[in-house]
Amino acid sequence: MTLPVPMTSFVGRAREVAAVADLLSEVRLVTLTGAAGSGKTRLALAVAERAAGDTAAWVDLAALSDPDFLVGHVAARIGVHEEECCLPLDTLCTALRERPLLVLDNCEHLAEACARLVETLLRECPALRVLATSREAFAIGGERAWLVPLLDTNDAVTLFVDRARAVLPAFHLTPEHTGAVEAICRRLDGLPLAIELAAARVQVLAPAQILARLDEGLRSLGAGSRTALPRQRTLRGAIDWSYALLGERERLLLARLAVFSGTFSLGAVERVCADPALPVEEVLDLLAALVEKSLVVMELQAGEARYRLLEVVRQYAQEHLVASGEEDALRQRHAEFFLDVTEQSAGSMFGHSARASMARVNDEMPNLRAVFEWSVTAPERAESALRLCVALNEFWRLRGLFSEGRQWLREALSLPAAANALRARALAGAADLARLQGDHSTVRTHLAAAEAIARQVGDRTA
Ligand SMILES: Nc1ncnc2c1ncn2[C@@H]1O[C@H](COP(=O)(O)OP(=O)(O)OP(=O)(O)O)[C@@H](O)[C@H]1O
Ligand SMILES: [Mg+2]
Repeated sequence: MTLPVPMTSFVGRAREVAAVADLLSEVRLVTLTGAAGSGKTRLALAVAERAAGDTAAWVDLAALSDPDFLVGHVAARIGVHEEECCLPLDTLCTALRERPLLVLDNCEHLAEACARLVETLLRECPALRVLATSREAFAIGGERAWLVPLLDTNDAVTLFVDRARAVLPAFHLTPEHTGAVEAICRRLDGLPLAIELAAARVQVLAPAQILARLDEGLRSLGAGSRTALPRQRTLRGAIDWSYALLGERERLLLARLAVFSGTFSLGAVERVCADPALPVEEVLDLLAALVEKSLVVMELQAGEARYRLLEVVRQYAQEHLVASGEEDALRQRHAEFFLDVTEQSAGSMFGHSARASMARVNDEMPNLRAVFEWSVTAPERAESALRLCVALNEFWRLRGLFSEGRQWLREALSLPAAANALRARALAGAADLARLQGDHSTVRTHLAAAEAIARQVGDRTA
């Protein structure tokens, strides 16, 4: 994937961008570390633009939870087509040999797998450099960890004013506000995300009021969680504060949005999150309110608006979703929606709408992966896992993601499930992918199993 295009201004960081770009010309692995919301991703983006522009490969790992899928995920995100009979890692190395820079964003939860992958890539691709972001460094040989500093007060104030103007164009840093805005920035330790959340409130509160309320919120929080690192505490306080000011339905929507992985469309939110407690006709306004408050990020992708939660915000929203007792119901609706999307797209992988269908599946991959991971955790959901695999088979074949597909199928087929037509179709699909990799003994085993089921259920179409 080429570099994402942020919808908001980038502030300051000229020295940091230059320093990290210089460092990348000296060492081949630089890991930007720092607290959640401190600006690692934004800085990585600026460095990648400067160091490699369009030739940089960008892979966001926030939505991936299973390290077994790391290689497949990276390959899919940078559009690598697997070649018949080659190991996926070899194919990935071949593709990256032509690239100057790979950015791996949000590696913290997959540190070990990322470290192994990066070691291999650096060994196999002599011209490649890797820029990673992670709340903690990998601690592998050749790595240079670089702690992203907090914004200094001047830049923090500029960020505050920029974000304040986005919601209140008439906002100016008049002398009467300057002191309060500076104090807010200091109180929030120059943490960019915390500042954005605070600034989004100038529509309803004067800076001095924001400061007073934040101060109160942060003080009460400080007493309760002495163990947390101060930065984490500050950010948590800023998010809590921002959350406390939301309306009831905005809170409900924010919690429900945690069910999505990666980016999501308005249509998906309307189908998955709306119900009698959250009427569908209000969803757009509520989503707009959350974007305005910097809790949801909007991005343009091929002419369509898509949304995402920053990782810390998603984790926060997820806590509320779990506490609400609604998680299962939401996961169920999320799975049904994305199964529908995939099955519809599967029907149009050829002909004039093929390109759009492929792109759609590709865009939704983080969500499909989430559906899959949820489906394989309980035997009664085996059917969802199999349906997803059957619907994705054509996509895997056309995109050359054979190993990735086989891995999903292996997991889905290992679940206890009825010997029915669906299972037979999944087996036939697995046989197909195995054939493309020249694994003939697996082809035979799968086909024999599929035929046995077909005979048993008398379904000739299986
Ligand atoms: N220099 C900057 N100029 C403008 N906005 C910034 C800057 N740095 C960070 N931000 C904004 O602050 C928010 C948090 O930044 P970012 O996502 O880069 O943090 P992060 O360190 O990657 O967090 P996480 O650990 O959760 O991934 C984002 O909305 C981002 O756009
Ligand atoms: Mg990040």
